[in-house]
Amino acid sequence: MEYENLYANRIGGSNFGKDTTIYKFEKIKRAKAKAKINNPDLEILDFGVGEPDKIAPKIIRDSLKIAVDKSENRGYSDNGISVFKNAALKYMDNFFGVKLNADTEINHNIGIKSSLSMIPLAFINEGDVVFQTVPGYPVMATHSKYLGAEVINIPLLEENNFLPDLSSISIDHAKKAKLFYINYPNNPTGAVANDKFYDELIEFALKYNILIVQDAPYATLVFNQDYKSILQRPNAIKCAIELHSMSKSFNMTGWRLGFFCGAPWAVKALAYIKDNSDSGQFKAIQEAAAKGIADMQLAKEISDHYKKRLESMVNVLKSVGFNANMPKGSFYLYVKAPKGADNIIFKNAEDAALFLIENFGISTVPWDDNGAFLRFGAVFESKDHEDDKRVLNLLSERLDNANLIF
Ligand SMILES: Cc1ncc(COP(=O)(O)O)c(C=O)c1O
Repeated sequence: MEYENLYANRIGGSNFGKDTTIYKFEKIKRAKAKAKINNPDLEILDFGVGEPDKIAPKIIRDSLKIAVDKSENRGYSDNGISVFKNAALKYMDNFFGVKLNADTEINHNIGIKSSLSMIPLAFINEGDVVFQTVPGYPVMATHSKYLGAEVINIPLLEENNFLPDLSSISIDHAKKAKLFYINYPNNPTGAVANDKFYDELIEFALKYNILIVQDAPYATLVFNQDYKSILQRPNAIKCAIELHSMSKSFNMTGWRLGFFCGAPWAVKALAYIKDNSDSGQFKAIQEAAAKGIADMQLAKEISDHYKKRLESMVNVLKSVGFNANMPKGSFYLYVKAPKGADNIIFKNAEDAALFLIENFGISTVPWDDNGAFLRFGAVFESKDHEDDKRVLNLLSERLDNANLIF
């Protein structure tokens, strides 16, 4: 059987699995394994992961223990249960002052990643254009590409506060575009969008008849500023959907729960695709999450954990020469990569990241899309806040010994 002919062209056709390029995450993983073999006693300082280091809040875990025993929670939940929907409505109101129509403007999902795979099924035909910002979460436009869309990457540049420059977009592309993917608070840059940018983007979307897809899993992780949703802005409800998730904000990555909300015509189409793709998250998980997600104090305790760590990380990185500043949101610190160390020159951020993990047991994520940057996540393993200090002292000592050149 020539099974290789069965692979669809979108994943490479008969060449699927034969690509020998090693991607950056795999390279870092291999370098981490090598560092451990070369020096089994070295504690790896892992700033490279993208998920919370803490377990979900107690109130949510305790509620799950009760909800799991209820017979009425056993079945399919399809497009979600009202207990969760009501909590999600309250979350939107409490954090952002956004009041949504429960029947038409909101629907639960099994995490943002899953919705990102479904959005193009509702909107994309072959040859359509979609915009996505880079650097960014690689999955954002992947499924649009699978369906034959032309994906236009819009750079997020430091000089533009990591906001896309709409004036750089060609009118021809804008006319063909259907989706504009953005993500604020942003992974990896830590940027937060401002009202002026949102208003310009909404105007652009209305002019060219485009749906804005605002990916917002870090929405409650903002520091020294107000919570922001694109749906706070006038007319956003006509042309934007926002994707929220319990993964990062409430330490629930593995639970797979979130929701999408916004323009009713888009919510309707996405709910329709979702209904034909999955049968909803386990009702007990929805019921448990509902106990915590609208609680602003709980969310603040979680974001304070990252804030403290990020502030200390900024100090450590600055002291060895990085140009580090507190991010406005997310749990990532995004800094220009060093140019070298001692007599070694780094070609790019990937070189710098490999050097740090192989020689000093410091794991980061390199980004080379627009300039060379390293992402340090405030999600490293430690026992408690005291232990955070020990880990960050180790980071400081090791970076000092690395003699980095900027
Ligand atoms: C920007 C961004 N969007 C979406 C996700 C995935 O969210 P979820 O766990 O809800 O699928 C992540 C996870 O890293 C992310 O960084």
